[in-house]
Amino acid sequence: MTKILGICGSAAPKSSTKKLIETALDAAKAAGADVEFIDAAKMDIHGCKGCLVCKKDQAKFCVQKDDMTPLYEKINAADAVIIGSPIYFGENTGQIKCFVDRMYAFLGPNGSKMTAGKKAAAVITQGVPDVATYTGCAEILTAGFRYCGAAIEKPLIVGDLHSADDLKPEALAAAKELGAKLAA
Ligand SMILES: Cc1cc2nc3c(=O)[nH]c(=O)nc-3n(C[C@H](O)[C@H](O)[C@H](O)COP(=O)(O)O)c2cc1C
Repeated sequence: MTKILGICGSAAPKSSTKKLIETALDAAKAAGADVEFIDAAKMDIHGCKGCLVCKKDQAKFCVQKDDMTPLYEKINAADAVIIGSPIYFGENTGQIKCFVDRMYAFLGPNGSKMTAGKKAAAVITQGVPDVATYTGCAEILTAGFRYCGAAIEKPLIVGDLHSADDLKPEALAAAKELGAKLAA
């Protein structure tokens, strides 16, 4: 069975990013996939310490033990990962940036520690309507996956959002399409 992980970088109580990721996961589940939602912004995930121990040991991930520890195995067990963040002051949230930086541990002394054949897709939500404004943030969300050879899907970027209530049917339809595509 296809396994899909949805990782959310918004801690907002009524998060549009979370709603889009959950909508994608629901569609993937309806298409037969096994899905799991990870509320990364509410987890204890510290920043990378730059110790580079992960570059000396091909068998291990990060030496820091926190809520990121089990996520390495979960990512490796997944066929596809959806990773989403709202834009805060022109960037991804601090919480998801800690997650992204810790993805560095997937690169070992002998290359990638990530299981092959994985897909990854970014979801970005933002206040400004122009969806071309923060495409670089979508690229950063999936950078760790790209460096490890995963296939990167077209990101889902939704603008003009100030609450999950602002999500239009077209945005939810696009999230469903993404989930179904990853499940196929
Ligand atoms: C602290 C903060 C900073 C923000 N900065 C930006 C910004 O620089 N550009 C932008 O387009 N939207 C900005 N926004 C709007 C959010 O990106 C947007 O409302 C997003 O959909 C929130 O996602 P969420 O509901 O999942 O938390 C900001 C919102 C907050 C709370």
